[in-house]
Amino acid sequence: MTRPPFLSVVVVVYNIAREAPRTLYSLSAEYQRHIAAEDYEVIVVDNGSDVPLDPSLLAGLTGNFRLIRIDPARPSPAQAINQGIAAARGEVIGMMIDGARIATPGLLHFARHGAGLYDTAAVATLGWYVGHDLQGWGALAGYDQAREDELLASVDWTRDGYRLFEIGTMDESSVDGWFQAISESNALFLRREVWEALGGVDERFELPGGGLVDLDTFRRVLELPDAELVILLGEATFHQWHSGTATGARPDQRRANWYRSSSEYSAIRGYAYERMWPRRAPTYIGTLTQAALARMVRAAMKPVHRHAVPPLGADFDEELWMTRPARFPDETTARLVDLARAEFRNGRFEASCAVARLIHARVPHGSGIEATLALVAPTIALPEDPPESERADYHLALAEAHQRLGEVEPATMNYRAALTFNSDLPLAHLGLATLRMPGDGYLVWLERLYRALVPESAIEIGVFQGASLALFRPPTLVIGVDPNATVLSPLSTETHIFAETSDQFFEQHRAERLLGGRSLSIGFIDGLHLFEQALKDFIGLEALCGDRSVIILHDTVPLDKPTQARTRETVFHSGDVWKTVLLLKQYRPDLDVFTIATPPTGLTVVAGLDPASRVLAARYGEAVATMLEMPFESIEGRMDTMLNLVPNDWTAVRARLEKHGII
Ligand SMILES: C[S@@+](CC[C@H](N)C(=O)[O-])C[C@H]1O[C@@H](n2cnc3c(N)ncnc32)[C@H](O)[C@@H]1O
Repeated sequence: MTRPPFLSVVVVVYNIAREAPRTLYSLSAEYQRHIAAEDYEVIVVDNGSDVPLDPSLLAGLTGNFRLIRIDPARPSPAQAINQGIAAARGEVIGMMIDGARIATPGLLHFARHGAGLYDTAAVATLGWYVGHDLQGWGALAGYDQAREDELLASVDWTRDGYRLFEIGTMDESSVDGWFQAISESNALFLRREVWEALGGVDERFELPGGGLVDLDTFRRVLELPDAELVILLGEATFHQWHSGTATGARPDQRRANWYRSSSEYSAIRGYAYERMWPRRAPTYIGTLTQAALARMVRAAMKPVHRHAVPPLGADFDEELWMTRPARFPDETTARLVDLARAEFRNGRFEASCAVARLIHARVPHGSGIEATLALVAPTIALPEDPPESERADYHLALAEAHQRLGEVEPATMNYRAALTFNSDLPLAHLGLATLRMPGDGYLVWLERLYRALVPESAIEIGVFQGASLALFRPPTLVIGVDPNATVLSPLSTETHIFAETSDQFFEQHRAERLLGGRSLSIGFIDGLHLFEQALKDFIGLEALCGDRSVIILHDTVPLDKPTQARTRETVFHSGDVWKTVLLLKQYRPDLDVFTIATPPTGLTVVAGLDPASRVLAARYGEAVATMLEMPFESIEGRMDTMLNLVPNDWTAVRARLEKHGII
């Protein structure tokens, strides 16, 4: 006596002579994988097809196939299913209410496995269509059986049924079904006892095609107290295009069908049909081919908003691949976490990971970086250097992190390292500059000085986009000089801008006319970054000044050799304006020259001006010649004394200006 099979599949067919052979082949032992022919049986119930299903079809298939013919049959397949179940010998019984569906090759293997996981397991597959659109819509665009035959042949599905995903579309019952409630399963496997507890399918569903009997059955299983939904990840049944009642209908007919079916449902159940969410998260088993995975990822990331909560949570940040952080312990940590996440967003995982580890080491618990770290750490499990193209950014990120932590030495090292991979990184230069001269930046200083000095008039050489020009306030009369000014900041006081070089400006004596015989209060030199030009600008401005005037020079504290080069090679560039300070000290000991250590490149203030002095003009050629070849190394490490640096501190600077009676 042969032992009964463990698994039975009941398949109902009705007038699907074209589709049934494919369906049944997909259930044969030749096609199904990891399950032996003797482990399952297929019970085909021909529900009164006009032309009876040809029994020789089954004879040609590998496996245990049985045919039950019901004739005469009812229009609904409900009774046929129950008859099939009654004939089934397996411990696990699957029902396929629509025999027009091709199964994937692991369906029976995983169904058997899934049914064994729980006493009340409901093993469901998702429903798909053959074709790239919902079939009702596809038909409107010319999809038909011939097109379907071509499609099926194109993927050679009989050799690898998983390729059906490449030519398939999820059907309406299963949209995003991995993560959202599905309304039915077209291959539903339950243990025999569960079928008994349900009393089979409900034969009161009498409409042709069964109306909502499949949906009703699925819902009733999920309602069982211990029901556990098991979703087969990468298995499915693919519906072939035929003129079945529900699936073969045009979109507009579907609406009418739905109305009829749901009315029958309400009449039987006493309430309207609704999809049911399983009480607990489903169990997933199976394999996922790439084509199926792509759809699953879409369903997770961009879910159809049909149901309550998106699978990855309402706060999931697609760019970060995690939920948004709730709270941070302090402002510094928050800024560091921001940095690690920004690197992640930009796809620079090494940098993100390095910063995340830095944070984690400093704040081991509750820093808010945990999710990022866990996400990114495995991407660089091996201690590899980041790719060459990312090294500059890598060191830059680390440098910024150390800087935010107030760790000057590693921050400096990393900025320097970044510059070895890319010598023109403004952020690295800026970082180094602020590490070297922390505190208020030059614009803050200019505003502070203008506020304290309340100048009657001012000339700014080098306007650019007007960031510094815009700091002047009424009643100051302002003159800007720049051949290439494009002012973007709003100006708030009377301002005259001359679109020419400072040399042209002084030659034309334009300032004299505007000043009307009064001396200039403030001169600000921020034009061409060459010391000889800055010196010329100084000479031109001093001639307009009075003894209570001030001239300010920008870019007088060079950061390093490359950024002070006379030929500009970096965005961050001070040029060699520092030499002007040395010349002023050398040739004009009568002046008070001091340099505020403000980032990025210092501000030199000159007081005690003498408009009558001709020293610089007379000795200009000689002065420029002595300084031209002066190497950067001659001030490197000695800037304090050589540039008369004063701390980035208003009290000290104010005292100095008060001494001159300027404030
Ligand atoms: C560093 S930007 C000035 C920035 C501006 N002062 C600020 O703080 O926002 C230098 C400007 O000097 C201008 N410049 C260059 N050579 C000049 C010259 N000979 N006379 C006047 N302006 C000049 C450039 O066109 C450029 O816009």
